[in-house]
Amino acid sequence: MGDFLTLADIEKAAEAVQKRSDHQPRVGLILGSGLGPLADSVEDAQAIPYSDIPGWPVSGVKGHVGQLVLGRLEGVSAVVMQGRTHYYEGYDMPRLGLPVRVMQRLGIQEFFVTNAAGAVNPDFEPGELMLLTDHLNLLGMAGQNPLRGPNLDELGPRFPDMSQVYDRELQALAREVAAEENLGLQEGVYCCLAGPSFETPADLRFLRAVGVDAVGMSTVPEAIVARHSGTRVMGVSGISNKANLDGNTETTHEEVLEAGKVLVPKLTALVRGVLRKLS
Ligand code: HPA
Repeated sequence: MGDFLTLADIEKAAEAVQKRSDHQPRVGLILGSGLGPLADSVEDAQAIPYSDIPGWPVSGVKGHVGQLVLGRLEGVSAVVMQGRTHYYEGYDMPRLGLPVRVMQRLGIQEFFVTNAAGAVNPDFEPGELMLLTDHLNLLGMAGQNPLRGPNLDELGPRFPDMSQVYDRELQALAREVAAEENLGLQEGVYCCLAGPSFETPADLRFLRAVGVDAVGMSTVPEAIVARHSGTRVMGVSGISNKANLDGNTETTHEEVLEAGKVLVPKLTALVRGVLRKLS
């Protein structure tokens, strides 16, 4: 079988968070590799290390602080995950869904999910943001879906629709903010692979041929769990490197973290701008 979540697991983790914070978040935010510093601008912040939350998947990856920050951003009550855990770290997919389940239990209506990604689209440059218009769920096609296992009917349907994972109204707000603040927002399809090895040139040519614009190792499972319960999702990739289609350049985790420094101010402006328009 597998490590499937129960309502009791979700309740227990949510209670541990509620004991440590009196914030009642309206929005949830996951900050990907190198993007964690956005959490530093949260006001009235209360931080809880992931290891203090029962059942929470804990990450050991550099560039991921590993704490939940509750507070306010642009006057909106928010719960921010400073760093996330990935499938390649060894957890089962349903367990990786626990953080989103807990954020939903805390009351979020909108979920902003971010990641660092490699550009598969040759027009994209490191340091640019890409708004997710859709995703390619290759892991899901191979059987690795966070909703695998008994369905929690109280939370959502057995066969949830995925025709509009990334909320169109939130996409429109993101475009408005990007235009107003000159953020140069790209758009496209994100694909999540298992990692931790980066792609070969053949992998990348395959992804390009099937319509992928950016590739990474996260986000898709979290977005699926969010949509299962009807939470509105906005997804943003920080392009950290060019995908190596010709096999002549190497991809490293260091360059992914380095790109984060350029991306954090842009991502902060985008998220803050959308929150202002929402509130
Ligand atoms: N491939 C996969 N994941 C990534 C990449 C990449 O090139 N860059 C950042 N995360």
